[in-house]
Amino acid sequence: MKKGKYIKTSMLMCFLHGSLRFFVVSILSSAIVAGIEMVTPQIIRIVVDYCLMGDAGTLPGPVVSFLDSAGGRTVLSDKLWMAAAAVGVLAAVSAVFRYLNVYLNTRGTEKMVKTARDLLYSHIESLPFSWHSGNQTGDIIQRCTSDMQTVREFVSEQLVQVIRIVILIVFSVVFMLLMSVKLSLVVFLSVPVLVGYSWYFYFKIGHLFLECDENEGVLSTIAQENLTGVRVVRAFGREEYERERFRKQNHKYTDAWMSLCRILSVYWASGDLLMFVQIMLIVVIGTILCVDGQLTAGALIAFVSYNNQLIWPVRRLGRMLSEMSKAGVSMDRLLYILNSGEETWEGTAEPDMTGDIVFHDVSFGYNDSKEIIKDLSLTIPGGSTVGVLGMTGSGKSTLMYLLNGLYTPDSGRITISGNDIRDISLSWLRRSIGIVLQEPFLFSRTLEENIALAADTDLENVRRAAGIAALDDSVNRFAKGYDTMVGERGVTLSGGQKQRAAIARMLVQDPPVMIFDDSLSAVDAETDAVIRKRLSGVMGDRTVILISHRISTLADADRIVVLDEGRIAEEGTHEELLRAGGLYSRIWAIQNPEEAAAAAACAGPAAVEGRLS
Ligand SMILES: Nc1ncnc2c1ncn2[C@@H]1O[C@H](COP(=O)(O)OP(=O)(O)OP(=O)(O)O)[C@@H](O)[C@H]1O
Ligand SMILES: [Mg+2]
Repeated sequence: MKKGKYIKTSMLMCFLHGSLRFFVVSILSSAIVAGIEMVTPQIIRIVVDYCLMGDAGTLPGPVVSFLDSAGGRTVLSDKLWMAAAAVGVLAAVSAVFRYLNVYLNTRGTEKMVKTARDLLYSHIESLPFSWHSGNQTGDIIQRCTSDMQTVREFVSEQLVQVIRIVILIVFSVVFMLLMSVKLSLVVFLSVPVLVGYSWYFYFKIGHLFLECDENEGVLSTIAQENLTGVRVVRAFGREEYERERFRKQNHKYTDAWMSLCRILSVYWASGDLLMFVQIMLIVVIGTILCVDGQLTAGALIAFVSYNNQLIWPVRRLGRMLSEMSKAGVSMDRLLYILNSGEETWEGTAEPDMTGDIVFHDVSFGYNDSKEIIKDLSLTIPGGSTVGVLGMTGSGKSTLMYLLNGLYTPDSGRITISGNDIRDISLSWLRRSIGIVLQEPFLFSRTLEENIALAADTDLENVRRAAGIAALDDSVNRFAKGYDTMVGERGVTLSGGQKQRAAIARMLVQDPPVMIFDDSLSAVDAETDAVIRKRLSGVMGDRTVILISHRISTLADADRIVVLDEGRIAEEGTHEELLRAGGLYSRIWAIQNPEEAAAAAACAGPAAVEGRLS
């Protein structure tokens, strides 16, 4: 399937890959139905004019010759059941083609939507992380659902119906012109008026539909936020406030629909009036032409039937044409996703990942205005454990995202075992660098599935990893153990349990480089120590990067790096940094006031001032 930049037509053609044939046959069936619908009034016309009135009138010569050879008026008048049977047979044939039309249209539509969904989802999966963090999830979902629905309606209803109506109009034009040019003129002049009236109307009130959609969007957002944030609402006792907020928006939404309905009622009433005037004109002018001998009674009846068959589709045509602009907007919104550039990564190497990790003069900013990592150089020796401390917002997580290839440095480079990470295959890089994210996310699946997410593994391995992450005790208390469904976004687990499940997930992956991004912040200091002890027992020669705000978590690391506003402020072992009396020792003093006071008493007042200043 096509890759690269799309325009509306190429995108539609991609969506229609594999389903176009269904739509073509569906439209052909619809043309056959339209053709049959055109024949039925002619049978009535023949019965009235030829059999009952004995007046061949404006019937075409070949038809009259055929009727004469079939026995003429006297014989055919006695066999009127044949006309009824012909109408019945035509109705049956028409039903078969109508079935084909609807069935193939539905089948084509479902196949098209499936293709489109697959295409969109697979493209979204391949988009860079920066795209995801720069776009709202709700908006992306709305594009893939509501906008997709609009495009679906455009293809399955509007496009197909417009073609059907055009076929109907063409057939009617031919049959009407064959019967009476004058009366046809009345129809042809009124069709643009009816189409134009409904097109203009729907075009004018398009913004009201949009207003209703927007109000509905706000209403669902309020409901959705309240459902997901139910704990916050309850905790702050904001139920009444939220109820009122919902009530007000609900009112606004209903009001928007009410005013739209009022205007729609005016449209339908005035449209009906216009339609009846048109029918009346046909009947009156047709009758005058009949009296004048220019038209037969049968032809007039046929004419009125054609007009009736045409009038509803024509009225819908105006609406459909105006709604097509909506489809254009939706297609643009889908094009925004499909034309967003995929994650580009050319590296293919799969080198040894156990060596030193080196940041060479790395600078990076999420957007042009602010640099988050500033000319940072750092070496993390392979097989060592390095702690990273820093104020919130100092760039610790950002640094790890750069190492993991989620973002690319603006300048400088990162090497692992001497290989630039851009030369390493992306899947190899991510498989080799396990990261326990600061905000762990659990899927709505069982605990076992969540832990085994990164690697195909057995329950034994899952249990082992959970044991190291000190999660086993908690799991044993769940009635279903590892089969416990972890509710929507892991609601059934506590914050600390979620963090430990995320650690276990990374341990199952068993990568040579492990990053713990503030991964023990939600567990108590005692459990933190237990987990670190168990981890150090299994780490072996893995490279470990520990990010934490808690000095006790980092103190045992081989080396500790202190980040300050995207730069390395200090670097050394726990003891070295304490001695240095910089930011690290100040944070230590705040977290360990008693020890700090004791140390200060030994060192004298000057040391206390130096450490706390
Ligand atoms: N996707 C993003 N787009 C723009 N700015 C971002 C993005 N993610 C983070 N930032 C900004 O980058 C800076 C560094 O963020 P980062 O998450 O690296 O800090 P941190 O040191 O990990 O902080 P914390 O200790 O709170 O986890 C912050 O000022 C943050 O607002
Ligand atoms: Mg962070």
